[in-house]
Amino acid sequence: MSEQTLSNLSREERRFEPPADLAADANVKEEAYARADSDREAFWADAADRLDWGQKWDQVLDWSNPPFAKWFVGGTINAAVNCVDRHVDAGNGDKVAIHWVGEPDDDTRDITYAQLKDEVSKAANALTDLGVKKGDRVAIYMPMIPEVVVAMLACARLGAPHTVVFGGFSADALASRITDCDAKVVITSDGGYRRGAASALKPAVDEAVEKTAGPDGQSQVRHVLVVRRTGQDVDWDDDRDVWWHEAVDNASADHEAEMHDSEHPLFVMYTSGSTGKPKGILHTTGGYLTGTSFTHWEVFDLKDDDVYWCTADVGWITGHSYMVYGPLANGATQVMYEGTPEKGRWWQIVQDYQVSIFYTAPTAIRTFMKQGREIPDGYDMSSLRLLGSVGEPINPEAYVWYREVIGGDRCPVVDTWWQTETGQIMISPLPGVTAGKPGSAMKGLPGVGADVVDDDGQSVPDGSGGYLVLTQPWPAMLRTLWGDDQRFKDTYWSRYPKQGFYFAGDGAKKDEDGDLWMLGRVDDVMNVSGHRLSTTEIESALVSHPKVAEAAVVGAADETTGQAVCAFVILRESAGDGGPDIVEELRKHVQKEIGAIAKPRQIMVVPELPKTRSGKIMRRLLKDVAEHREVGDVTTLADSTVMDLIKDKEGSGA
Ligand code: WTA
Repeated sequence: MSEQTLSNLSREERRFEPPADLAADANVKEEAYARADSDREAFWADAADRLDWGQKWDQVLDWSNPPFAKWFVGGTINAAVNCVDRHVDAGNGDKVAIHWVGEPDDDTRDITYAQLKDEVSKAANALTDLGVKKGDRVAIYMPMIPEVVVAMLACARLGAPHTVVFGGFSADALASRITDCDAKVVITSDGGYRRGAASALKPAVDEAVEKTAGPDGQSQVRHVLVVRRTGQDVDWDDDRDVWWHEAVDNASADHEAEMHDSEHPLFVMYTSGSTGKPKGILHTTGGYLTGTSFTHWEVFDLKDDDVYWCTADVGWITGHSYMVYGPLANGATQVMYEGTPEKGRWWQIVQDYQVSIFYTAPTAIRTFMKQGREIPDGYDMSSLRLLGSVGEPINPEAYVWYREVIGGDRCPVVDTWWQTETGQIMISPLPGVTAGKPGSAMKGLPGVGADVVDDDGQSVPDGSGGYLVLTQPWPAMLRTLWGDDQRFKDTYWSRYPKQGFYFAGDGAKKDEDGDLWMLGRVDDVMNVSGHRLSTTEIESALVSHPKVAEAAVVGAADETTGQAVCAFVILRESAGDGGPDIVEELRKHVQKEIGAIAKPRQIMVVPELPKTRSGKIMRRLLKDVAEHREVGDVTTLADSTVMDLIKDKEGSGA
């Protein structure tokens, strides 16, 4: 890590103290760090005690066979009962669980905990009638409608692990996931709404099921349960397909839930690895529910009257942990929105539903920055009291804009670092304790061991960079990769076998105060002339220029320096074409912000950046352009025409 880079970061001197009233009444206070340090297992046992258990555990953690952890050994629990029934039993059946907002403007539904309990029970009975038994896998491929939550909880209730596949994935991707986890039933809908139009889902399921057929022409998928959402025409197989409104609506609302072993599989979530084949991340019941519900209460300081909104799609881990299991286990009232971010609509929803806690991704924040503050300024968002960020490093400029423009300069921003694999938030400020630093995720939460180490696994001193590791097991940790224990060991646990650390695959550094700055995936960290540079840091520098809205940086192979910095930038609307010297101006700006070493070799001004449907920039494709290669697989892009626009720019020498 170059000296200049580090000194650039330590120049970030803005601090935001927690609001006094929030600090005084915070769910989790400073003492929690020391309490967790003195007895980590007792700390997590207290967190597990917030849930309802059938039988209490005999042992908090069994780590006798690392890296295969068992949490709350001997305990039995049902995730659906914890997310629904227990709130009804406690007299909160009339509390709204979900304010659902459909994409068409007038389409809304409020669902109470009592209604949710009935729906989940009916769906569990309907799935049983379709032959689903404890241990069977069920694939879910649905838009953001309440039935997706009902479907997940019904599976959890039965102990049938679900695998939710993001509705934007192709039939191929769905088929490979169905095959990998051997799903017996698929739950889907005729379609969903995307940007004002009905978009079909069922044809992709039909195609995927066909692809999974064996040599005898039979697929392992016995039934497809279909919600009618858009009313569009669908092909129908009478033996296989079943309408939700027939099977579920006519089922009994009485369902006796079985308590499952704490380590019973809850779900498999596929995520991309460094190789082509997606990894099936396995989460189990007791530890996962403990980790997600506790951190949701802790990090968002959840109170009984809060209205919480996480904008993630249910097809990603954030949707699982912080839209379904965490908030519902806590009995929260939340907003669920079917659409994607559009100008003004989000803020209208915040205003209409008096949202108090809002959780989104930096890429959305930067998009709104690009559109200008006039749009959010047109809404009353005084109900907000806390803001969260997740998914990628949030650059200081975006953090400050989020805090000021969306949060009215009064809401703390919690930058939460975690992964599909960790299941729960691991590194984050505590909103009632931490003086926030724009751009830093600060430090491991109480009970979490997080450190930055060098190649030998030695903890690096403050002011230095290295690899992010997790030094202690935690309740919501992945248990293995579905059907591939060896890959699980190789991917996460083989880097530091002596210390037994979990290798996160992220670069990070400690600033002079020992606070953590995430530097992006290790494969996004460049090595230029022997200096380690972060793509994120250079992007952050570029975005701090008044003409720049968004930036993506890649390290392209370079004969002399090893790698060279290549940047792709989108200008703000107000900057027009940036002027004739825009490229030189931006190179100089990066030089000024970080140092000559970070000055991009090449800057391309582009109209769009290639993003996945979850909003992650696909740097791999930009790297192909920067290295003058044929652009690789674009199937996971939200909009596959973006690469043509970028290549045109390259061709024209802009
Ligand atoms: C990145 C999403 C910086 C990181 C919950 C991680 C972050 C990967 C942050 C996991 C953050 C997530 N700051 N980087 N606050 N949150 N990341 O599995 O590189 O989709 O390894 O889980 O996202 O992405 P995943």
